[in-house]
Amino acid sequence: MKTISIGAEAVVYADDALRVVVKQRQPKKYRAKELDEKLRLHRMRREAKVIEALRQLKIPVPKLINVDEKTAAITMQLIEGQKVRDTLNRGNCGSICAEIGKAVGTMHSNDIVHGDLTTSNMILGRNSNKGSARPYQPSPTDDGKVYFIDFGLSMFSNKDEDKAVDLHLFRQALNSSHHEIAGRCFAAAIAAYKKANADGLKNVLKRLEKVEERGRNKGK
Ligand SMILES: Nc1ncnc2c1ncn2[C@@H]1O[C@H](COP(=O)(O)OP(=O)(O)O)[C@@H](O)[C@H]1O
Ligand SMILES: [Mg+2]
Repeated sequence: MKTISIGAEAVVYADDALRVVVKQRQPKKYRAKELDEKLRLHRMRREAKVIEALRQLKIPVPKLINVDEKTAAITMQLIEGQKVRDTLNRGNCGSICAEIGKAVGTMHSNDIVHGDLTTSNMILGRNSNKGSARPYQPSPTDDGKVYFIDFGLSMFSNKDEDKAVDLHLFRQALNSSHHEIAGRCFAAAIAAYKKANADGLKNVLKRLEKVEERGRNKGK
Protein backbone atom coordinates (compact mmCIF):
# COMPACT_ATOMS: atom_id res chain seq x y z
CA MET A 1 0.00 0.00 0.00
CA LYS A 2 1.29 3.43 -0.81
CA THR A 3 0.00 6.69 0.59
CA ILE A 4 -1.60 8.79 -2.13
CA SER A 5 -3.20 11.57 -0.14
CA ILE A 6 -3.06 13.06 3.32
CA GLY A 7 -6.11 15.21 3.85
CA ALA A 8 -7.48 17.13 6.80
CA GLU A 9 -9.65 14.19 7.87
CA ALA A 10 -8.36 11.11 6.18
CA VAL A 11 -5.33 9.39 4.72
CA VAL A 12 -5.84 7.53 1.45
CA TYR A 13 -3.71 4.51 0.58
CA ALA A 14 -3.67 2.69 -2.74
CA ASP A 15 -2.82 -0.86 -3.73
CA ASP A 16 -2.20 -0.79 -7.45
CA ALA A 17 -2.06 -4.55 -7.84
CA LEU A 18 -5.36 -5.13 -6.07
CA ARG A 19 -6.78 -1.93 -7.53
CA VAL A 20 -8.20 -0.76 -4.26
CA VAL A 21 -7.86 2.32 -2.13
CA VAL A 22 -8.30 2.55 1.61
CA LYS A 23 -9.61 5.81 3.03
CA GLN A 24 -8.91 5.94 6.71
CA ARG A 25 -10.07 8.67 9.01
CA GLN A 26 -7.29 9.52 11.40
CA PRO A 27 -7.74 10.17 15.12
CA LYS A 28 -7.58 13.86 15.97
CA LYS A 29 -5.67 14.63 19.13
CA TYR A 30 -7.40 17.97 19.65
CA ARG A 31 -10.79 16.27 20.00
CA ALA A 32 -11.83 14.38 23.11
CA LYS A 33 -11.29 10.69 22.44
CA GLU A 34 -14.90 9.61 22.66
CA LEU A 35 -16.21 12.44 20.56
CA ASP A 36 -13.45 11.83 18.06
CA GLU A 37 -14.37 8.19 17.69
CA LYS A 38 -18.02 9.03 17.31
CA LEU A 39 -17.34 11.63 14.64
CA ARG A 40 -15.00 9.44 12.63
CA LEU A 41 -17.45 6.57 12.68
CA HIS A 42 -20.39 8.76 11.81
CA ARG A 43 -18.63 10.33 8.84
CA MET A 44 -17.31 7.04 7.59
CA ARG A 45 -20.73 5.42 7.77
CA ARG A 46 -22.35 8.32 6.00
CA GLU A 47 -19.73 8.27 3.27
CA ALA A 48 -20.34 4.54 2.74
CA LYS A 49 -24.10 5.03 2.75
CA VAL A 50 -23.94 7.79 0.15
CA ILE A 51 -21.64 5.73 -2.09
CA GLU A 52 -24.13 2.86 -1.96
CA ALA A 53 -27.09 5.13 -2.64
CA LEU A 54 -25.37 6.69 -5.66
CA ARG A 55 -24.42 3.31 -6.98
CA GLN A 56 -28.07 2.32 -6.91
CA LEU A 57 -28.82 5.42 -8.97
CA LYS A 58 -26.17 4.31 -11.49
CA ILE A 59 -23.99 7.34 -10.84
CA PRO A 60 -20.34 6.41 -11.37
CA VAL A 61 -18.75 5.98 -7.93
CA PRO A 62 -16.10 3.57 -6.62
CA LYS A 63 -17.42 0.16 -5.71
CA LEU A 64 -17.48 -0.33 -1.93
CA ILE A 65 -15.42 -3.31 -0.85
CA ASN A 66 -15.26 -3.08 2.92
CA VAL A 67 -16.23 -0.80 5.77
CA ASP A 68 -14.15 -1.33 8.89
CA GLU A 69 -15.67 0.23 11.96
CA LYS A 70 -12.68 -0.56 14.14
CA THR A 71 -10.20 1.45 12.12
CA ALA A 72 -12.70 3.87 10.54
CA ALA A 73 -11.52 2.78 7.13
CA ILE A 74 -13.38 2.31 3.87
CA THR A 75 -11.88 0.04 1.22
CA MET A 76 -13.11 0.78 -2.28
CA GLN A 77 -12.35 0.33 -5.92
CA LEU A 78 -9.38 2.32 -7.19
CA ILE A 79 -10.62 4.57 -9.97
CA GLU A 80 -7.99 4.85 -12.65
CA GLY A 81 -7.69 8.05 -14.58
CA GLN A 82 -6.98 11.70 -14.06
CA LYS A 83 -8.69 14.17 -11.83
CA VAL A 84 -11.12 16.30 -13.80
CA ARG A 85 -9.18 19.23 -12.36
CA ASP A 86 -6.15 18.22 -14.42
CA THR A 87 -7.97 17.35 -17.64
CA LEU A 88 -10.72 19.89 -18.12
CA ASN A 89 -10.11 22.14 -21.12
CA ARG A 90 -11.89 24.19 -23.74
CA GLY A 91 -12.34 21.20 -26.00
CA ASN A 92 -13.76 18.68 -23.56
CA CYS A 93 -15.52 20.89 -21.03
CA GLY A 94 -18.90 20.81 -22.76
CA SER A 95 -19.27 17.06 -22.61
CA ILE A 96 -17.55 16.54 -19.25
CA CYS A 97 -19.59 19.24 -17.53
CA ALA A 98 -22.78 17.88 -19.06
CA GLU A 99 -21.98 14.55 -17.46
CA ILE A 100 -21.28 16.25 -14.14
CA GLY A 101 -24.49 18.25 -14.33
CA LYS A 102 -26.59 15.23 -15.17
CA ALA A 103 -25.16 13.29 -12.23
CA VAL A 104 -25.62 16.18 -9.80
CA GLY A 105 -29.19 16.66 -11.02
CA THR A 106 -29.86 12.99 -10.36
CA MET A 107 -28.29 13.24 -6.90
CA HIS A 108 -30.38 16.29 -6.02
CA SER A 109 -33.62 14.87 -7.35
CA ASN A 110 -32.97 11.95 -4.98
CA ASP A 111 -32.21 14.30 -2.09
CA ILE A 112 -28.49 13.61 -1.97
CA VAL A 113 -26.14 16.57 -1.67
CA HIS A 114 -22.46 15.95 -2.43
CA GLY A 115 -21.13 18.73 -0.24
CA ASP A 116 -17.73 19.16 -1.91
CA LEU A 117 -18.22 19.44 -5.66
CA THR A 118 -14.72 20.41 -6.75
CA THR A 119 -13.03 19.03 -9.85
CA SER A 120 -10.50 17.34 -7.53
CA ASN A 121 -13.30 15.12 -6.30
CA MET A 122 -14.08 13.86 -9.80
CA ILE A 123 -11.98 11.45 -11.82
CA LEU A 124 -12.20 10.99 -15.57
CA GLY A 125 -12.01 7.21 -15.79
CA ARG A 126 -9.44 5.46 -17.94
CA ASN A 127 -9.23 1.71 -18.19
CA SER A 128 -5.51 1.06 -18.39
CA ASN A 129 -6.08 -2.65 -18.80
CA LYS A 130 -8.00 -2.37 -22.01
CA GLY A 131 -6.62 -4.53 -24.75
CA SER A 132 -4.03 -6.10 -22.47
CA ALA A 133 -3.76 -9.82 -22.07
CA ARG A 134 -4.42 -9.67 -18.37
CA PRO A 135 -7.52 -11.81 -18.09
CA TYR A 136 -8.81 -10.86 -14.68
CA GLN A 137 -9.67 -7.43 -13.51
CA PRO A 138 -11.81 -7.35 -10.38
CA SER A 139 -13.38 -3.92 -10.81
CA PRO A 140 -12.52 -2.27 -14.09
CA THR A 141 -12.79 1.49 -14.42
CA ASP A 142 -15.00 2.59 -17.31
CA ASP A 143 -13.30 4.67 -19.97
CA GLY A 144 -14.39 8.26 -20.27
CA LYS A 145 -16.89 8.25 -17.42
CA VAL A 146 -16.78 10.93 -14.75
CA TYR A 147 -16.53 9.25 -11.35
CA PHE A 148 -17.44 11.05 -8.17
CA ILE A 149 -15.44 10.53 -4.99
CA ASP A 150 -15.12 12.08 -1.51
CA PHE A 151 -18.47 11.98 0.25
CA GLY A 152 -17.06 13.09 3.58
CA LEU A 153 -19.27 16.18 3.54
CA SER A 154 -22.27 14.65 1.81
CA MET A 155 -25.74 14.58 3.27
CA PHE A 156 -29.26 13.43 2.62
CA SER A 157 -31.38 16.55 2.34
CA ASN A 158 -34.48 17.70 0.53
CA LYS A 159 -33.77 21.40 1.12
CA ASP A 160 -33.37 23.69 -1.88
CA GLU A 161 -30.90 25.67 0.20
CA ASP A 162 -28.53 22.70 0.61
CA LYS A 163 -28.76 21.89 -3.10
CA ALA A 164 -28.16 25.52 -4.02
CA VAL A 165 -25.07 25.65 -1.81
CA ASP A 166 -23.84 22.49 -3.57
CA LEU A 167 -24.12 24.26 -6.94
CA HIS A 168 -22.62 27.43 -5.53
CA LEU A 169 -19.54 25.57 -4.31
CA PHE A 170 -19.23 23.90 -7.71
CA ARG A 171 -19.35 27.28 -9.46
CA GLN A 172 -16.73 28.63 -7.06
CA ALA A 173 -14.50 25.63 -7.69
CA LEU A 174 -14.81 26.21 -11.45
CA ASN A 175 -14.01 29.89 -11.06
CA SER A 176 -10.91 29.23 -9.04
CA SER A 177 -9.49 26.19 -10.87
CA HIS A 178 -10.78 26.73 -14.43
CA HIS A 179 -11.23 30.45 -14.60
CA GLU A 180 -11.23 30.95 -18.36
CA ILE A 181 -13.83 28.32 -19.12
CA ALA A 182 -15.82 28.45 -15.89
CA GLY A 183 -18.87 30.18 -17.38
CA ARG A 184 -19.11 27.71 -20.19
CA CYS A 185 -18.62 24.77 -17.82
CA PHE A 186 -21.32 25.89 -15.43
CA ALA A 187 -23.80 26.57 -18.24
CA ALA A 188 -23.23 23.09 -19.69
CA ALA A 189 -23.65 21.54 -16.26
CA ILE A 190 -26.92 23.38 -15.57
CA ALA A 191 -28.36 22.49 -18.97
CA ALA A 192 -27.77 18.82 -18.21
CA TYR A 193 -28.89 19.13 -14.58
CA LYS A 194 -32.21 20.39 -15.91
CA LYS A 195 -32.84 17.13 -17.70
CA ALA A 196 -32.27 15.11 -14.55
CA ASN A 197 -34.03 17.40 -12.08
CA ALA A 198 -36.48 19.41 -14.16
CA ASP A 199 -38.95 19.91 -11.31
CA GLY A 200 -36.38 20.96 -8.78
CA LEU A 201 -34.12 23.17 -10.86
CA LYS A 202 -36.23 26.31 -10.83
CA ASN A 203 -36.41 26.49 -7.07
CA VAL A 204 -32.78 25.52 -6.63
CA LEU A 205 -31.67 28.23 -9.07
CA LYS A 206 -33.82 30.80 -7.27
CA ARG A 207 -32.10 29.79 -4.04
CA LEU A 208 -28.71 29.91 -5.74
CA GLU A 209 -29.31 33.56 -6.57
CA LYS A 210 -30.02 34.25 -2.91
CA VAL A 211 -27.00 32.28 -1.74
CA GLU A 212 -24.74 34.21 -4.10
CA GLU A 213 -26.30 37.54 -3.21
CA ARG A 214 -25.57 36.77 0.44
CA GLY A 215 -21.99 36.01 -0.52
CA ARG A 216 -21.64 39.31 -2.38
CA ASN A 217 -23.08 41.28 0.51
CA LYS A 218 -20.71 39.63 2.92
CA GLY A 219 -17.80 40.81 0.81
CA LYS A 220 -18.89 44.44 1.08
N1 LIG B 1 -11.59 5.52 -5.15
C1 LIG B 1 -10.53 6.25 -5.48
N2 LIG B 1 -9.83 5.98 -6.60
C2 LIG B 1 -8.74 6.71 -6.93
N3 LIG B 1 -8.28 7.72 -6.19
C3 LIG B 1 -8.92 8.04 -5.06
C4 LIG B 1 -10.08 7.34 -4.65
N4 LIG B 1 -10.51 7.88 -3.47
C5 LIG B 1 -9.65 8.86 -3.19
N5 LIG B 1 -8.70 8.99 -4.13
C6 LIG B 1 -7.57 9.95 -4.16
O1 LIG B 1 -7.32 10.41 -2.86
C7 LIG B 1 -7.56 11.81 -2.78
C8 LIG B 1 -8.21 12.16 -1.44
O2 LIG B 1 -9.41 11.42 -1.29
P1 LIG B 1 -10.75 12.17 -0.88
O3 LIG B 1 -11.81 11.13 -0.73
O4 LIG B 1 -11.02 13.26 -1.85
O5 LIG B 1 -10.40 12.71 0.56
P2 LIG B 1 -10.21 14.18 1.17
O6 LIG B 1 -11.40 14.35 2.04
O7 LIG B 1 -8.94 14.11 1.92
O8 LIG B 1 -10.19 15.17 0.03
C9 LIG B 1 -8.40 12.14 -3.99
O9 LIG B 1 -8.25 13.46 -4.42
C10 LIG B 1 -7.89 11.16 -5.01
O10 LIG B 1 -6.71 11.62 -5.59
MG1 LIG C 1 -11.23 15.34 -1.76
